[in-house]
Amino acid sequence: PRKIRLHHLQQAKDEGRKFAMLTAYDQYAAQIFDEAGIETLLVGDSAANNVYGYDTTIPVTVDELLPLCRAVARSARRALVIADLPFGSYQVSPEQAVATGVRFLKEGLVAAVKVEGSARLAPHIRALTDAGIPVVAHIGFTPQSEHALGGYRVQGRGDAGQDVVDDAVALAEAGAFCVLMEMVPADVAAAVDAAVSVPTVGIGAGSATTGQVLVWQDMAGLRGGQVAKFVKQYADLRSALSDAAQQFGAEVRDGVFPGPEHSF
Ligand code: KIV
Ligand code: NA
Repeated sequence: PRKIRLHHLQQAKDEGRKFAMLTAYDQYAAQIFDEAGIETLLVGDSAANNVYGYDTTIPVTVDELLPLCRAVARSARRALVIADLPFGSYQVSPEQAVATGVRFLKEGLVAAVKVEGSARLAPHIRALTDAGIPVVAHIGFTPQSEHALGGYRVQGRGDAGQDVVDDAVALAEAGAFCVLMEMVPADVAAAVDAAVSVPTVGIGAGSATTGQVLVWQDMAGLRGGQVAKFVKQYADLRSALSDAAQQFGAEVRDGVFPGPEHSF
């Protein structure tokens, strides 16, 4: 299958088509989503929550994300693989952003990186782009700024909607090839999509964006407990896995497994 490139995402925007993005952190997820035709895979810093068991994305490190990037990049044949730069690995300066971005392409084998921030991040995005590192700009609710933003909440309500549009325009002008918006009102996301020529991706941002992204464990119902309003669960993997594990445990305890057909 032909590899998805940046210009294919731009074509989607130009021609009014949609594309899909899912997170992936390991071989099988990457392989399955790639074969299912998902156009873009995100090695999100949400690996903090979904792989490493942290409560927020803040503690996850470059060294924790790079091996996951390699696993996904090696497993995806067609999908464009994008990685999050984790908190603290790019905010300090444009130079730091480039140094970290280089590691993600060189050691993580990904095709592009994503950074979170407002228009203040324009110099960092410009520096990354100038270094040949394609960048997705993540605006709206940015989980790495959870404490600064006062928790998980919709961004850009009311007058603040214009700030989201201004951020998107500034970051696209700085060279971002895609703008991703998290938890913003649908009409604000639509205004962003109209204001920038690059493709947009939404999560909790309504239906006007070029692409849609979900965390795969949310989308597939692997994660337990309450899910956010913007999540749709397309499967119930948690029940399927739990049933399999309970059955295996019971059969081991009962001496049913292994049977003669599993023995040498
Ligand atoms: O880390 C992540 O999973 C993300 C998506 C939710 C956009 O940044
Ligand atoms: Na992220």
